[in-house]
Amino acid sequence: MSAIKRLGVLTGGGDAPGLNAVIRAVVKASANSGIDCVGLEDSFDGLIEPDRARPLTPRDVTGILRLGGTILGTTNHGNPFAYPVSTSEGVRDYSDRVVEMFHKMGLGALVVIGGDGTLAIAHQFSLRGIPLVGVPKTIDNDIVGTTNCFGFDTAVAFATDAIDRLHTTAEAHKRIMVVEVMGRDAGWIALYAGVAGGADAILIPEIPFDLSIVAARLRERDKWGAKFSIVVVAEGAFPAGGRTTLIEAARDGHVERLGGIGAQVSEALARETGKETRSVVLGHLQRGGAPTSFDRVLATRFGGKAVELIKRGEFGTMVAFAPPDIIARRLEDIVGKTKTVPRDSDVLATAKALGVTFGD
Ligand code: F6P
Repeated sequence: MSAIKRLGVLTGGGDAPGLNAVIRAVVKASANSGIDCVGLEDSFDGLIEPDRARPLTPRDVTGILRLGGTILGTTNHGNPFAYPVSTSEGVRDYSDRVVEMFHKMGLGALVVIGGDGTLAIAHQFSLRGIPLVGVPKTIDNDIVGTTNCFGFDTAVAFATDAIDRLHTTAEAHKRIMVVEVMGRDAGWIALYAGVAGGADAILIPEIPFDLSIVAARLRERDKWGAKFSIVVVAEGAFPAGGRTTLIEAARDGHVERLGGIGAQVSEALARETGKETRSVVLGHLQRGGAPTSFDRVLATRFGGKAVELIKRGEFGTMVAFAPPDIIARRLEDIVGKTKTVPRDSDVLATAKALGVTFGD
């Protein structure tokens, strides 16, 4: 039996397929160890007001394994350390309030499921004395220390299916089809979906691209008889000497919104190749829907491991996938870093060997 009698669980940052699978695993593993669970709504906001927290029993999480989204709600703006928040007791420092409420609610530990931003906040609360374990989540797969985050496999599967479908029109109309996928700082989704979908060009944030190189490769394909091409572009990709394309600049607590690079690449390739082009943005479709079996298993293992670490008192940690194992990493070794596609990635090298251009 664990010394912890009650734990809180929350989800922060953008949603990713598998969040509910983690919540379910945490609740079931806790219940089987005699630990009560409290679900905190909308990330750390659930630790401001008591009515934004609710008990979670195995009954409450039955049937959610296959559901996308999060039954607890989430937010990807509003760092509790960054600004004061108005509560029913007046304007208070949000972070003090979180610590206070954690104790008032009789919680012994927290499971914080989130991406780099949420885990960085968790780390700060850990330094303020809250015993917690982090669970890495992002479809971008850019959290260091873990080979995979849940959600990534589902996003790649969706993007691959989209590329398969775009091949139809590309081939029938002899067009260049440009697909913009998510990937703010890292091109993992573009790389994996591009390779899985047989893309001819893959543009990622790690490799600033030269469009004349891409156009030359696509013209070559035309010459030897492949009259169509597929180009996959990560939203964070940018031309050499240029900058990322924004939909909206950063503003009070909201990060900048990326998007539009696919359309720009499409227009430029039409000019440079003389071919007809079309562009598609997959956007949030990549974050929706049911998690793949891989993500369900990973999320379930992450949730089970988080409870195990809490029972062992291994706080200030993050569960991580180090195939074939799920291990614990120190949060301080994770935060503030981004796992980008390395230049010597074997997936990248293999794609290049097969003739895929990265515009470099
Ligand atoms: O971090 C995951 C991610 O999907 C990024 O790839 C993307 O830039 C961002 O979330 C979009 O977030 P929002 O839901 O705020 O539009």
